[in-house]
Amino acid sequence: MSTSNRTNIPNSLNEHWMPFTDNKTFKKNPRLITDAKGVYLTNHQGKKMIDASSGLFCNPLGHGRKEITEAVSKQLEKLDYCQPFNQGYGGSFELATRIAKKTPEGINRIFYTICGSTAVETAIKIAIAYHRAKGDSKRFRFVGRERGYHGMNIGATTVGGMINNVKTFASVLMPGVQHMRHTHLPEHKFVKGQPDTGVEMAEDLERIAMNFGGENIAACIVEPIAGSTGTLVPPKGYLKRIREICDKHGILLIFDEVITGWGRTGSAFASQEFGVTPDMITMAKATTNGVIPMGVVAVKEEMYDAVLDSSKNPEGTPELFHGYTYSGIPAAVAAGLAVQDIFDKEDIFNRAKEMSPYFQDGLHTLKDLKEVVSIRGYGMMGGIEMKMKEKPGKAGFQTFKHCYDAGVNFKNTGDSLIIAPQFICEKKHIDEIINKLRTGITNYSKS
Ligand SMILES: Cc1ncc(COP(=O)(O)O)c(C=O)c1O
Repeated sequence: MSTSNRTNIPNSLNEHWMPFTDNKTFKKNPRLITDAKGVYLTNHQGKKMIDASSGLFCNPLGHGRKEITEAVSKQLEKLDYCQPFNQGYGGSFELATRIAKKTPEGINRIFYTICGSTAVETAIKIAIAYHRAKGDSKRFRFVGRERGYHGMNIGATTVGGMINNVKTFASVLMPGVQHMRHTHLPEHKFVKGQPDTGVEMAEDLERIAMNFGGENIAACIVEPIAGSTGTLVPPKGYLKRIREICDKHGILLIFDEVITGWGRTGSAFASQEFGVTPDMITMAKATTNGVIPMGVVAVKEEMYDAVLDSSKNPEGTPELFHGYTYSGIPAAVAAGLAVQDIFDKEDIFNRAKEMSPYFQDGLHTLKDLKEVVSIRGYGMMGGIEMKMKEKPGKAGFQTFKHCYDAGVNFKNTGDSLIIAPQFICEKKHIDEIINKLRTGITNYSKS
């Protein structure tokens, strides 16, 4: 552990087993964040950094929003918890109505979960419950996509397609899951926005349906833009074709909008941005601006009706045997409502849309850096892919460290740098992100 500045370092770092972290390396030289305000973070050494990934895509409204913290603390004083099973409180219904106003038409039944992973897990279960309700209980298969990320529960891990996340756990993954190929195509290098080529990759779903029987497939899940793998933007026509194939075989389509939801593309949801309507949408992260965990599954009304109508359970018994102790807890709902107010008051999705070309242009100016092998992006999300060095992930992590030292913080996945600025960014903040990325990447190249 570093001894240079221990002021903000706890006495022991040993007990906390950190998630998705190289614990051994981190604990020798920790990076601890002590303060966050607006688009800036401060670390334990007092260094100020610009937050170029909105935390983990969580805080598009910026850090330390008073409206949110005040709403949460007021709520906690009045009602800190109430059980969500066969009881409730008004706020969760109010938030559901507000969310349903922004989701695509017809997708207006809101199930609260705890996070993105539990939203995906819930969507998987609702798909099965819906088919059973319709008398179609043979549909047990799910289709995901290579390089997809849907969270870390068993179901979400299985439908995901990132190799390191699945290989240790192969023995416990869900049976009957197939994966379409990803759309990380060589000709998409340095393409801005949606690539013109690659729509044919959607035919993988048709092929899986032919091989395994479309009538056995419950649902297909994709991120409209694959985020964690480094921003894979869907080829033009790709999502529409996936929808057509789903319709042909009676397969439900789930859009995992945990990252793309709430304005990241410039529309409330990527579904609206790309003009393709799924049957369910999962969301989390920006739903509360990241301050309190909350996930959501927005479900087509007719699916909700089918599950409720088919239930023959006695009064007081749930129609769907699923839920969480923390489904729609008051503090998360209070944060969610405050976030909705800010979305509306500050016209936040349009703000993201307007800033997007400036951000995307800025990102592509980094094309000349010699270790950068691809840049992709859409809306307020982008991925910079570094040339692999010896083993996957090494170049990405080393670049991240140089950028951190240069004063720009973000997340890397493997060799991809994930850049997702906050929607409150002004042009000067985008310039600062791009300039510091240039410095960090250049320093990495020299190292
Ligand atoms: C698309 C997508 N789905 C699901 C998840 C899982 O969310 P959580 O970490 O809140 O469980 C993530 C997390 O990054 C995600 O990007």
